[in-house]
Amino acid sequence: MKLTAIAAVARNRVIGRDQGMPWNIPEDFRRFKQVTLGCNLIMGRVTFYSIGKLLPGRTSIVVSRGDPAVFPDLPPGENGLATEVLWAHSLEDALRIAAESDRPSFVGGGAHIYAQAWPFLTDLDITEVDASPAGDAFFPEIDPAIWREVSREPREGFSFVKYTRRAAAPASGDE
Ligand SMILES: NC(=O)c1ccc[n+]([C@@H]2O[C@H](COP(=O)([O-])OP(=O)(O)OC[C@H]3O[C@@H](n4cnc5c(N)ncnc54)[C@H](OP(=O)(O)O)[C@@H]3O)[C@@H](O)[C@H]2O)c1
Repeated sequence: MKLTAIAAVARNRVIGRDQGMPWNIPEDFRRFKQVTLGCNLIMGRVTFYSIGKLLPGRTSIVVSRGDPAVFPDLPPGENGLATEVLWAHSLEDALRIAAESDRPSFVGGGAHIYAQAWPFLTDLDITEVDASPAGDAFFPEIDPAIWREVSREPREGFSFVKYTRRAAAPASGDE
């Protein structure tokens, strides 16, 4: 299954501070919506609530060990766009739910979820932010030996960069 992490990542790998984002890049938010519309978006419970509203037009798969009944409802997003929220008790559950649908699947963070999903990711869709802000949530290191850059669109102060996982190197002695 193709599984893409989508994230805005600073030079120092910071992605968040105090359960929010340390920057405000409207073009990045617009692109995030455009890229993820109609798709599954796997998120940790903290990220889901940090957004403050349901993400319209997407199936949010929220990973939590808690009981969804005790968490508050979020206000709906825009009218007219199908919005679905599914809860998963583990990342494996979330990946299974995603795999059972025919929608493309993205992993939308936060730090705990990116780290746990890392071995299962096939692609990365990264907004590289040209800054090194203080933060308390980090993206894993993108090792060029494992991830091949396939496209880069520079903007003022940030770039949209896509990576794909390199094929596993054959084990020593294999042809
Ligand atoms: N820059 C970006 O693109 C970007 C994207 C997303 C998020 N962020 C930032 O990242 C930060 C949030 O990241 P975070 O790491 O603190 O939180 P998170 O990954 O969004 O959510 C953590 C929560 O997910 C649940 N969880 C994690 N692993 C689980 C597992 N294996 N099984 C069941 N539940 C599991 C737990 O929820 P329960 O406590 O309910 O059990 C846990 O408290 C915020 O600052 C946010 O703004 C940035």
